[in-house]
Amino acid sequence: MTEGVVPTPEEAKSLWGLEPGARHLNHGAFGGCPTELLAHQATIRARMERQPARFFLNDLPSLLREAAAALAAFVGTAPEWLGFVDNASTAVNAVVASAPLVPGDEIVTTDHVYNAVRQTLRHHAARAGASVIEAPIGMPVTTSEGAAAAVTGALGPRTKLVVIDHVGSPSAVILPIAPIIAAARGRGIPVLVDGAHAPGLLPLSIDALGATWYAGNCHKWLCSPKGAGFLAVAQDAPWEVHPTVISHAYGQGFTAEFDKTGTRDPSAWLTVAEAIRFHQRIGGAALRMRNDTLAQASATALAADIATPLGAPADMFAAMATIRLSGSALPGIDRLAPDWPTAGLLRNALWECARIEAPVMALGGALWLRLSVQAYVAPADLDGLAAPLAEAVAIVAGRAAA
Ligand SMILES: Cc1ncc(COP(=O)(O)O)c(C=O)c1O
Repeated sequence: MTEGVVPTPEEAKSLWGLEPGARHLNHGAFGGCPTELLAHQATIRARMERQPARFFLNDLPSLLREAAAALAAFVGTAPEWLGFVDNASTAVNAVVASAPLVPGDEIVTTDHVYNAVRQTLRHHAARAGASVIEAPIGMPVTTSEGAAAAVTGALGPRTKLVVIDHVGSPSAVILPIAPIIAAARGRGIPVLVDGAHAPGLLPLSIDALGATWYAGNCHKWLCSPKGAGFLAVAQDAPWEVHPTVISHAYGQGFTAEFDKTGTRDPSAWLTVAEAIRFHQRIGGAALRMRNDTLAQASATALAADIATPLGAPADMFAAMATIRLSGSALPGIDRLAPDWPTAGLLRNALWECARIEAPVMALGGALWLRLSVQAYVAPADLDGLAAPLAEAVAIVAGRAAA
């Protein structure tokens, strides 16, 4: 392997500890951490346990800020406005729990929202007597202008906050966040971007996007160890955001508060700089382009094979794409309910019959297959998916009928 050059899928496979003999097409769900990054994390843990008090009291504050500086440079913001959290869920919770919601306020999100985030919004809105509005983007998405208009059309005088995905989880669609941010902020409405998928998947320049807050994960497409998320805040944010755990540094400013949230293992955060180096070493932007091209072409070919639409025009996807299963030419597919329990059964049946790990989503009254392409996915892994899909449908339909 050559530094900075995209490895072959076979070379890449040797860098991950993935189960052999399977097709791993679900990187978007929980990422996948290369073995060398896990080894790096292990050295940090060993250092932590050699002298715990010195590590936490003397070393950790500057190590955390060094890690924040590396991540901030990669995602296009300033380290003094970036705090680490366990995951995107925690970042979203911190922003929404800190919102000064009052009865009658509205939080605008979309029908593509990640379900865990939907529950966070529901919880905090209900406590305050506020409500959540899901702007209807629908599926398939036909144009980015239409998706942006659906969100801006839902803004009103009571809108207190907009929460928009950068890349949808069930849809895989890259949403047009720039015009949405411009429209909302032009009306004085703050915007939280849920960028759980974006770091390592899209080129990212958070400050240029102009969102009020940006939540991201490093443990998906940047391949860091699990438990490395972040929250970036703009300097003109209309309210202070506190971490979900208040600790010693309360009142001492954003990064001070996020750097101290009780004793926890910080080794995933301290591996992020190494994960960025790994990402660049296996090609960086060239890797992203290779993955995008393969995902879009394979999804388009599969959609043609089973006579069905994609979840959006191919150029609205990066290295993840969705293909509609409901209404397709797969025999028996329309005997399956387009709901989440059935989606889970289909995912399990794909593994059972063909050792394919790929999620099925329920969105907009239909079932969708989501394909993710990371460096270790070969074109052959994406070939001929119609046959195992048909087999999985037959398994689920047969069990439902039994
Ligand atoms: C769009 C989106 N938001 C938030 C999350 C939550 O991420 P985490 O489970 O790491 O908190 C996910 C996870 O898949 C996601 O896809």
